[in-house]
Amino acid sequence: MKRLLGLFAVAAVIFGLDSTSINLEKFPDDFIFGTASSAYQTEGAWNADGKGENIWDHFVHKFPEKIADGRNGDITCDSYHKYKKDVVLLKKLGVNFYRFSLSWTRILPTGFPHRINQAGIDYYNNLINELLANGIEPIVTIYHWDLPLELQKLGGITNSLFADWFEDFSRVVFENFGDRVKFWLTINEPRLICVFGHSTGVFAPGIQSGGIGEYLCNYNVIKAHARSYHLYHKSFRPTQKGRIGLVIDCQWYEPATNSTEDIEAAERKLQFDCGFYGHPVFSKKGDYPQVVKDFVAERSEIEGFPSTRLVLFTQQEIEYIRGTSDFVALNHYTTYYAANDKTITPFTEHPSSAKDSRVHIWQDEDWPSGIFPEFRTVPWGFRKLLKWLKDNYDDPDIYVTENGFSDDNKNLHDRGRVNYTTLYLSALLDAIYKDGVKVKGYAAWSFLDYFEWASGYTIGFGLHQVNFTDPNRPRLPKDSVKTYTSIIKNRKLTPID
Ligand SMILES: *[C@@H]1O[C@H](CO)[C@@H](O)[C@H](O)[C@H]1NC(C)=O
Ligand SMILES: *[C@@H]1O[C@H](CO)[C@@H](O)[C@H](O)[C@H]1NC(C)=O
Ligand SMILES: *[C@@H]1O[C@H](CO)[C@@H](O)[C@H](O)[C@H]1NC(C)=O
Repeated sequence: MKRLLGLFAVAAVIFGLDSTSINLEKFPDDFIFGTASSAYQTEGAWNADGKGENIWDHFVHKFPEKIADGRNGDITCDSYHKYKKDVVLLKKLGVNFYRFSLSWTRILPTGFPHRINQAGIDYYNNLINELLANGIEPIVTIYHWDLPLELQKLGGITNSLFADWFEDFSRVVFENFGDRVKFWLTINEPRLICVFGHSTGVFAPGIQSGGIGEYLCNYNVIKAHARSYHLYHKSFRPTQKGRIGLVIDCQWYEPATNSTEDIEAAERKLQFDCGFYGHPVFSKKGDYPQVVKDFVAERSEIEGFPSTRLVLFTQQEIEYIRGTSDFVALNHYTTYYAANDKTITPFTEHPSSAKDSRVHIWQDEDWPSGIFPEFRTVPWGFRKLLKWLKDNYDDPDIYVTENGFSDDNKNLHDRGRVNYTTLYLSALLDAIYKDGVKVKGYAAWSFLDYFEWASGYTIGFGLHQVNFTDPNRPRLPKDSVKTYTSIIKNRKLTPID
């Protein structure tokens, strides 16, 4: 039998079947499928019914030139008014869960818990109840980037009180929704909050403070996550009996050559991007990865800083943060090659994490891509990443909370997405069955086309297209809806032709 399989593998390579050969095993019985979205990107109703202003409302109104098409999320998919229609479509898809986020200022208009906006509570109650009535589990992200503007005026995430503010907001949402929500995600992608929001400044709040603000942001965000976790664990879990964890985004970095320095460079890049946020929470040891601490300290010294630019955790904080997630929630899209960057950039006034990590990355132009050029289809990188998470984070349960493909928002025949979804799910099955990784669920990003942050409406990630010029915002299924519905129904992939 073994020999036969071997022969088959050789034949498959010779006849070129390997590129499209996909894993046809069944998904495990406890594996859950879903789709995902976030409040600012889909809800619209930016100032309806007492909602307060958040940093994205402010950013898009004040700096339309920072958005590719100059547009904003004021109305976007209008899911605030159309949630019932959305649930009908979710039911048609057959998903086990729907991942969405809570708009902080819809619930607490000023950010603080002294005044709760009942209309906001009502909206999320209605959505949660509608999902449950249709047999769909709500998976709720507490924070997906739309910080209350009032908190930003006080420094936002870089204020050392941010963890208190986030804990207060978390308490309000556990008290109001925790009787029905059993699966919580505290914070979505701290890396992008810190890098795009506090280093390059291309996302709200638009702060440009590479290598300093971004590291302070990381320190505060991770502490805030841990506070929310401990609050839930201590005060709510005993009665509400749910699970809670952190969402990190990790791409895969493949060594460009087999030289020791490139292998180390690829691992270092992974630690700077993924481990920098994941290691303090998911690893047995806790704290930032040692290689990140070493490289930032070295570069800080070259630049004349009296000590490292990293905001270091105390031993007490390391222990408080370690283990504060019941699973790894992973957002993943693509892969890069990585090589050691031997040049030490000469002194400049502006530090950055790129100068700290000293890794050169690029992609193979032959890897298929959608409209967003960097999100190329590289399923083998996904499999390697899942194995890396298993090996580095003590064999956790893993939920893929985002994975998806970009199109131009204009075409219902999204062949690239059909390929992408099938190939990535096949790699996921390989990770489960061949590498023993405990992957427990998958969310296709995204449910609908929506406002894609700085790209506006120029990029669509949706399984459904939305007509953003029609006041009714009709949703139309793309071809990938058929593919995903059939995968969920059969709990199995079909070969792509
Ligand atoms: C590295 O070595 C492995 C095993 O020998 C080989 O399969 C792979 O192609 C090599 N990679 C590069 C980039 O040379
Ligand atoms: C999808 O995959 C098939 C089979 O490998 C390939 O022929 C086709 O070009 C791919 N289409 C896109 C848009 O990636
Ligand atoms: C979108 O809606 C507008 C207004 O109803 C309509 O004129 C247009 O044809 C629609 N576009 C598509 C692609 O259906």
